Amino acid sequence: MLFIYLFCVVALILTLKFYLYKRRIMKYVGHLPAPPEIPFVGSGLYFIGKNSMEIMDLLCMTTDIFDTPCRFWLGPVLAIFLGKPEDVQTVLLSPHCLEKPYIYRFMDDVEGIFTAPIHKWKSQRKLLNPTFNNKILLSFVPIFNEKSQILADVLDKKVGQKNFDISKQLFACTLEMVCCTTIGCDLEFQSNKNVKMLETMEIQSELVANRMTRFWLHPFFIYRFTNDYKKFRDNTKFIYEIPRAIRKIKEKEFYEKKIFENNNELETEEFFSTPQIFVNELFKLHNQKLIDDRMLDDEILTILVGGNETTALTTSHVILMLAMHPDIQERAFQEIKSVHETQTSHTTTDILTKLNYLEMCIKETMRLYPVAQFLARQNLQEIKLSNCTVPKGTMLIMSFHHLHRNKEVWGPNADRFDPDNFLPEKIASRHAYSFLPFSAGPRNCIGYKYGWFAMKIILSAIMRRYKLSTHLRLEDIRTKFEVTLKIENRHLVTVERREEY
Ligand code: HEM
Repeated sequence: MLFIYLFCVVALILTLKFYLYKRRIMKYVGHLPAPPEIPFVGSGLYFIGKNSMEIMDLLCMTTDIFDTPCRFWLGPVLAIFLGKPEDVQTVLLSPHCLEKPYIYRFMDDVEGIFTAPIHKWKSQRKLLNPTFNNKILLSFVPIFNEKSQILADVLDKKVGQKNFDISKQLFACTLEMVCCTTIGCDLEFQSNKNVKMLETMEIQSELVANRMTRFWLHPFFIYRFTNDYKKFRDNTKFIYEIPRAIRKIKEKEFYEKKIFENNNELETEEFFSTPQIFVNELFKLHNQKLIDDRMLDDEILTILVGGNETTALTTSHVILMLAMHPDIQERAFQEIKSVHETQTSHTTTDILTKLNYLEMCIKETMRLYPVAQFLARQNLQEIKLSNCTVPKGTMLIMSFHHLHRNKEVWGPNADRFDPDNFLPEKIASRHAYSFLPFSAGPRNCIGYKYGWFAMKIILSAIMRRYKLSTHLRLEDIRTKFEVTLKIENRHLVTVERREEY
């Protein structure tokens, strides 16, 4: 009896607290358009019973139907959706909006740079920025070429096989690249070794997305009793073994070779002509006690996952788009052919700057299918947007889907694939924040140049040797909500050998 009485009192206090909180918040955002809401659940009701494709449709529809900024109560949590370039610009450039909301921490226990809270992120980013400088990136080009040629060889076995999922080969290739360039270990994913790691990463991404949209699973004390959590925990343990193992190997290597003793000598031209391994840079920081063991593991894992998945997915999307549009593929092929001597010669840094049409094709693909359809931030102070002031502590969700497909910006054919959208005069006529595949502002993608180099080199290697086709049409494509945007239909293509040239 006493227990029931206590329960009722606590429930009453919580309800009253929530009511007062909501009344205060609604003074700020009550006038904004919003999908129907019910008490406590808000608009989170719409996610119940939906699969990841339906959730993606729902999220996209929210910013397409309602004028933005619009309001979305996800249970007791307020989210404001943004779809106007000027609002997105305000948020991405604001020093008060560098924090990521709590849902990012569902990704793992890892506090790598991607999810880190602001006080940690600032020093992490400062330390990591130099490891992505131009000289270091240029030293990776030979590795990108070598791995892309292996990929092109692997694809030879697929000639004659109709509509296979090419993303599997791409994930293996980019993970190999990221491992070689960041941790200095060749884990040979392309020869079917270590496949479990790739599969585990895919499952983790699904589990995290599931939790993000189901607000009742947000509190850990509930989530910990679910089967999803058990799977998630086991996978995390498995994934974590990798950076730990790498740390042990590298620690021995570094401290035995006393690599840190001549630090100044390391910064010479000669040093930069050989590949610069990101983990070496991290170990320098570790040696100077600027980062500890845990931070080292977290950074290794973040870069492995972040660098691999984004690059592999985007390249797979580009291949699918080119396979669907033979005329555009032919034009991109002719450009690649005109700057490469043979079908297997390396793509040099000089050539990379000449692949303008290929670059337009990649941009157009990232417009239609950005790996991040939605990104979120939390404002640590009140912030003024185009038609409202948002109270501090709000989850601000930026819809890149809406930015990239808004017909007022991209014209009536915004849903079609047309690389000419990226002709210089068209770019100049648009708001700079209408296209943001790598995000923008101080917390943008640290590896965007790396991604560009890798994608252009992979595509040059594949397209010189194979013609791509697919039975899929653009209008058939369904996307699904995961940590990164996934295509439900998969990247089904057929490859046909090209004649030598
Ligand atoms: C096509 C390739 C890529 C795309 C489309 C992409 C996209 C993005 C996006 C949209 C963000 C989120 C930024 C934000 O929250 O505002 C991000 C962050 C990040 N990306 Fe990339 N990325 C790519 C390649 C890479 C590569 C190759 C690496 C590393 C090797 C990398 C490392 C990171 C890191 C560490 C962050 C977190 C930055 C921070 O919070 O300071 N990315 N990326």
